[in-house]
Amino acid sequence: MDDRLTTQTREAEPDEAIISPSGVARSPATGPKVYVRTFGCQMNVYDSERMTEALSAHGYAETGAVEDADLVILNTCHIREKAAEKVYSDLGRIRQVKGARAASGSDTVVAVVGCVAQAEGSEIVRRAPVVDLVVGPQSYHRLPELIARTRSENRSLVETEFPEEEKFARLPQRAPSRGVTAFLTVQEGCDKFCTFCVVPYTRGMEYSRSVADIEHEARALVAGGVREVTLLGQNVNGYHGAGPEGRSYSLADLIRHLAQIDGLERLRYTTSHPRDMSDDLIAAHGTEKKLMPYLHLPFQSGADRILAAMNRKHTAREYIDLVGRIRAAQPELALSTDVIVGFPGETEAEFADTLSVFAEVGFAAAYSFKYSPRPGTPAEKLSDQIPDEVKADRLARLQSVIERQQALFSQRCVGRALPVLFEKPGRRPGQLIGRSPYLQSVHAKAPAGMLGRVVPVEISAFGPNSLAGVIRPE
Ligand code: 5AD
Ligand code: SF4
Repeated sequence: MDDRLTTQTREAEPDEAIISPSGVARSPATGPKVYVRTFGCQMNVYDSERMTEALSAHGYAETGAVEDADLVILNTCHIREKAAEKVYSDLGRIRQVKGARAASGSDTVVAVVGCVAQAEGSEIVRRAPVVDLVVGPQSYHRLPELIARTRSENRSLVETEFPEEEKFARLPQRAPSRGVTAFLTVQEGCDKFCTFCVVPYTRGMEYSRSVADIEHEARALVAGGVREVTLLGQNVNGYHGAGPEGRSYSLADLIRHLAQIDGLERLRYTTSHPRDMSDDLIAAHGTEKKLMPYLHLPFQSGADRILAAMNRKHTAREYIDLVGRIRAAQPELALSTDVIVGFPGETEAEFADTLSVFAEVGFAAAYSFKYSPRPGTPAEKLSDQIPDEVKADRLARLQSVIERQQALFSQRCVGRALPVLFEKPGRRPGQLIGRSPYLQSVHAKAPAGMLGRVVPVEISAFGPNSLAGVIRPE
């Protein structure tokens, strides 16, 4: 892991690669096999699932072994330089595998998809000629057709347009899930243009899916056994989708609407911008029982001068006041955040302002990053870039504060009975692992029949990444 502190296990941490745990059953069939490696955020995890589902409709079965794969997909992240560069080191290894497979008479199609694909386009094929396909996030529905074309035309193809047609409408229905929690993209893209961020360029302008479309997908997930849905969007609380009665729905409207689905027990959403925390959404935290009392709300910096240079459109005080209003609506609320250290020009005093926000707010978790200059973003061109040693030192100091705050939060959970949604068997026999309302991993001795159920667990101990507890007699 790189410059981040993983204070909680999210499904996929930025910069971390995982093998796609898609909902598609691995079949022993002799048909073509696809290997998917996912980097980056939860939206990439969701996209990988949708792609594997689309490919399974074309006869592909998933494999965890790249050597067996007729199709290799790297779903990439461009948010920081390290994440983007990992793709090229992976491609070096894949080139060898492709060569070995070719020697034994098997073809391999190598596809780079996701945000690096969008940002770098044909440059990827130039730098890594092993790549056959480069496909941006808005064109996943065209993957099967593009694979067929690259094979028949025997040349590399680059597809990074933002097409007119809607990809979600063209992707097949959700396959039955293997888990009890699922991601569901409701909004994509961002118009906020924070000066450090590539997202507006890689994911495009804000787009919200219709309520009917989202409801349909949510119902399919619940029918397949999902009990908790996390609504995803780069700027999810900016959601404004077409509602059933022809009026625009806010995220709060959408949450209230989805909360009516029987069998759906928990809702979450991520990631939010402080400017878009409307009164309605704040109120929903107090009234919607299915909405978990946990909010990921990045503040990026505690210094107003830096916030202005970041184009964040809020001050530190506005953020703190906002947190106060959300906590007034939902006193149980636990907060997590994203913070960048070493943005160009950040002084020691300005870094101390970031620490002050931590002291004032108290976070249950936080993700912290060294500023990474990204091509094409305004901040990259600023002259007063901070030396890496200074960034590393600030990051280390910040991370020890975050560790302390997270431990304090976990400690306060000891002795409480928290409702835990059990997701999977634990490492020890007879154990199950689930999530608390605050996204903490909780393990307890529990019968397998409790999988997929929300059960009160009395928390007895905490570790750096999880809680342990005992099930109360029912
Ligand atoms: N450098 C460092 N961190 C960044 N983030 C986004 N862009 C950059 C960058 N150029 C962080 C922000 C964002 C999170 C997903 O990644 O904190 O909220
Ligand atoms: Fe990037 Fe988030 Fe800012 Fe949008 S709101 S530009 S996604 S950091």
